Amino acid sequence: MTDRSGTMDAEKASWCLSEMANGMERSRILSIAADVRAMIADGREITAFTVGDFSPAQFSVPDEIIEETNKAFAQRETNYPPAAGILEARASLAEWMSHRYGVDVGVEGIILGSGARPVLYAAFRLFLEPGDGLAYGVPAWNNHYYVHLNDAKKIPINTSAENRFLPTAKQIAEVIGDIRVLILNSPLNPTGTCFSSTELQAICEVIINENKMRKQAGSKPVMLVFDQVYSTMTSPGVEHIHPVQCCPEIADYTVTLDAISKSLTATGLRLGWMAIPAAMAPPVIALIGHMGAWPTRPLQTAVASFYADHSKVESYVSQLNQGIHSRMEALMEGLDNIQAAGHAVQYVPPQGGIYLSTRFNLFEHLGVSTNEHIRQWLLQVPGIAVVPFQAFGLEEESGWFRISVGAVSVEDIENSMQRLFSALSH
Ligand SMILES: Cc1ncc(COP(=O)(O)O)c(C=O)c1O
Repeated sequence: MTDRSGTMDAEKASWCLSEMANGMERSRILSIAADVRAMIADGREITAFTVGDFSPAQFSVPDEIIEETNKAFAQRETNYPPAAGILEARASLAEWMSHRYGVDVGVEGIILGSGARPVLYAAFRLFLEPGDGLAYGVPAWNNHYYVHLNDAKKIPINTSAENRFLPTAKQIAEVIGDIRVLILNSPLNPTGTCFSSTELQAICEVIINENKMRKQAGSKPVMLVFDQVYSTMTSPGVEHIHPVQCCPEIADYTVTLDAISKSLTATGLRLGWMAIPAAMAPPVIALIGHMGAWPTRPLQTAVASFYADHSKVESYVSQLNQGIHSRMEALMEGLDNIQAAGHAVQYVPPQGGIYLSTRFNLFEHLGVSTNEHIRQWLLQVPGIAVVPFQAFGLEEESGWFRISVGAVSVEDIENSMQRLFSALSH
């Protein structure tokens, strides 16, 4: 075969590409995860707490989803679906959103995409002009990439462990004048923490008051993008709250994002949705159509029938939450034992999602100064693969890491904690 790769070097590629393409970054989390996979393939004993994904060996997609998808394939449901999604799926999800979260946008306000990402991208495109302010708490998942894609102005709001790494109403109020879009994610990736009703209500009030003033001034309002892809995954005693449940007035300014990627542990199947006031839906439908970013028709059919039966969804969710909880318990027990032995390890109690904010404050113990040094030591010595909060935008070298339990068993966790304990004791 002729080798044609030689004619284009990086410099020439950069000359050909747009500014936006040249500035595009690869996900830091995915590159860490790729390194870890290579080490495991090399035969190293590594516990992969890295990816926000589910190993099918640990967490399984509902059987009904597989069966109904296969049935729809067998019935040759292989032509283009409507750009917003098939009516049955939109109707099921509209009913689910209303029943579980009080989000009443009707069938017209539900738009399907191939996962949460296309609808997330669409949500930003709906409101942001170049240079508009996009505000988000830090640490958080991937927002900085979307700032770049939209040529927006980033407004990162640094959070702390004292506030469970969630931005507060007071912090948001300080920058509200610059914000066009505020994105909130609860339960939060990477911290595993959730907004309470009181916290969310205070944030909504800041937005409502600002929008009253903007309406009078004739300027565009602040829009809230609420990413709740982990909404069904909550720890015992914790309730997921949607903004409209504590502040009905926020409904007109809110776009909600959800997906089966996390709630049905179906990251590879690719189905997500947006719930938006119906009057704003047409440009979203057009954008999803232009991108061709709709889920496959058989999967839409399966989701339509699964979500039509709320008891089926709830029973799956409760089983899934038990699995997550048992892993969190093993993790916390292991970390508690390590801490009790005098090592500088702590965590923020988990409230939702599949993540634990964990602090390996090992700077003194290891004689190092960066999270990256600690990450490498954890990987190379006890064989524990974690992601530093820098990958989520928190730049400080404070020893905070994300631990994800989606791809590990209780036994894997127990073994990894024993290895960590003995590595720290030497
Ligand atoms: C907070 C959050 N939102 C959205 C997504 C994207 O979900 P999807 O895989 O459905 O595109 C993720 C994936 O990790 C996430 O953590």
